[in-house]
Amino acid sequence: MNKIPHLIDINDFTPEQWSSIIALAHEIMSAPMVYAGACRGKIMGTLFYEPSTRTQMSFQTAMLRLGGGIIGFDNPSNSSVAKGENLKDTTKIVSGYSDILVMRHPLEGSSKAAALTADCPVINAGDGGHMHPTQTLTDLLTLREEKGTLSGLTVGFCGDLKNGRTVHSLLKALSCFEGNRFILVSTKELKVPDYIKDYITGSGKTYVEYLTLEEALPQLDVLYMTRIQRERFGSPEEYEKQKNVYCLDAEKMKLAPADMIVLHPLPRVDEIAVEVDDDPRAAYFKQANYGMYVRMALILCITDYGFESKPLLKGTVMNDVCCTNPKCITHTEKYLPHSFIKTGNVLVCDYCDERIPL
Ligand code: NCD
Repeated sequence: MNKIPHLIDINDFTPEQWSSIIALAHEIMSAPMVYAGACRGKIMGTLFYEPSTRTQMSFQTAMLRLGGGIIGFDNPSNSSVAKGENLKDTTKIVSGYSDILVMRHPLEGSSKAAALTADCPVINAGDGGHMHPTQTLTDLLTLREEKGTLSGLTVGFCGDLKNGRTVHSLLKALSCFEGNRFILVSTKELKVPDYIKDYITGSGKTYVEYLTLEEALPQLDVLYMTRIQRERFGSPEEYEKQKNVYCLDAEKMKLAPADMIVLHPLPRVDEIAVEVDDDPRAAYFKQANYGMYVRMALILCITDYGFESKPLLKGTVMNDVCCTNPKCITHTEKYLPHSFIKTGNVLVCDYCDERIPL
């Protein structure tokens, strides 16, 4: 395999690299003890500026199972961030202590911003409502194990498709495999952003948008449920209007094919009734477990094949232009160069993919 770059967006890796990681994860699952000492002497830093259970703990467990060590914080108020330290300085220091840096942050484009100054590979463990590439590696491994293929699938996504970063990354990845089509189930307020829809159609794939799960269920090979992302809403009132719109229960599962599987990145709030857990088609707890193995494989690939720092900003620096996305990292980390890619009559922010009409 080629050297591994920073993993900020799932497409930083090629489909061949995804396949190698998934194949290695499969091997690790069948003989975990073979890899027990593979990362002895290596350190992983985890900077979690936002809550996490599965992502943080599966990364940490992955490194510990490989024989490596971990440092980091899961509550920035216990670190120098509370004293006003900027992202650049925290990243510079912790990446100097670590062989791999895993970062989650509430602002979009934050991992790319961190990677600009990091002295080791950076893995995006979720940047606001933007991207979550290692959840996608988890989801791809789950599909491979549970459906036997990554192609020719009709995949339904339901819930908060606007703010769900796992949805964005997975749609990008699945658009790269032949014969996949997508059914997007959401309210009109929480639809998939245009930059992701353009990516789907640009890859020659199709999608349809529905308002109800009942319409979608009979057609699906895979249903990917998501929670409404309360923390991304501007006001509690806006969240109140969106919560509880979709709930998958045993009654609705009767509409689904016998071989459909239900995935969810978790945490679940109330969008899947607990009774569905006993349905053999519910694969979300297995999915969370696959996450640990895929992260072991990812860490191993980085340590085995080495790291290659590729240019991160692909656009032109225009410091007089400001990104119009209030959640873009460029608004709080003021020293960052404002970089935009000109596409047709829009400028695309290099950090968060926001489109600014010219
Ligand atoms: C997801 C996330 O953080 O984006 N969780 C995860 O990483 N498994 C989904 C979510 O928080 O809803």
